[in-house]
Amino acid sequence: MDSPVSRRDFVKTAAGASVALAVASQHNPLFAAPAVEPPKPSGKTISMPPLPYPQDALAPFISARTVDLHYNKHHMGYYTMLKAWIGAHPEFQNQTLEELMVANQGGIRFAEAVFNYSVLLYNHNWYWMSLKPKAGGQPKGNLAGLVNGSYGSYQAFRKQFIEEAMQLGVGWVWVVLDGKAIKAYRSEYHETPLLKGYVPLLTVDVWEHAYYMDYQNERQKYVEAVLDNLLNWDFAETRLAAAQK
Ligand SMILES: [Fe+2]
Repeated sequence: MDSPVSRRDFVKTAAGASVALAVASQHNPLFAAPAVEPPKPSGKTISMPPLPYPQDALAPFISARTVDLHYNKHHMGYYTMLKAWIGAHPEFQNQTLEELMVANQGGIRFAEAVFNYSVLLYNHNWYWMSLKPKAGGQPKGNLAGLVNGSYGSYQAFRKQFIEEAMQLGVGWVWVVLDGKAIKAYRSEYHETPLLKGYVPLLTVDVWEHAYYMDYQNERQKYVEAVLDNLLNWDFAETRLAAAQK
């Protein structure tokens, strides 16, 4: 997105992305009715989903102070900025978050800002739902079979997930559905697997603001703590079920 894009290229990109979204929407859980009732990640008006647990619920693995800063400052800040950017443009005000991402992908100036903040809001919406107290460890049910089928074992998947996290500069590590396989997938900066043809199931934010106060530079300890104690496989199972309908 650093290089200028001509209007013709932008229109072409947006048109292509629209097709991609149409295909993704058939399989993506964010477009489907959830099996349980999580906070709605997006809607016809952009919203800020409530934190699905108290701010201290993830301690000691993620402190209340980190959750407070991350949710109330960073996440809320992205939401506020996105609302500000689209506030003066009525053509965007009835679009879902997913539609905003597609319509502004590859754009410059205004479109780039809308795209970036849309992705940041979208990814953070996923992040809080991807965690819960007294969770983590090996998945059960359908996901256990998919993880074993894709990686041979949960331990092999866990190792790959950590490697993806450590190879990132700034970004996110996801559990996605890639066809019929589970994949540990990393997205940098303002990227999201939704626009790459994958079905998101879970994500872990590895921007420094997600862990630095609790773990300083030891990102791996943060990722391991999340994997072993907080990763919300139950939520992923509902997303998987919705995607497979
Ligand atoms: Fe974040």
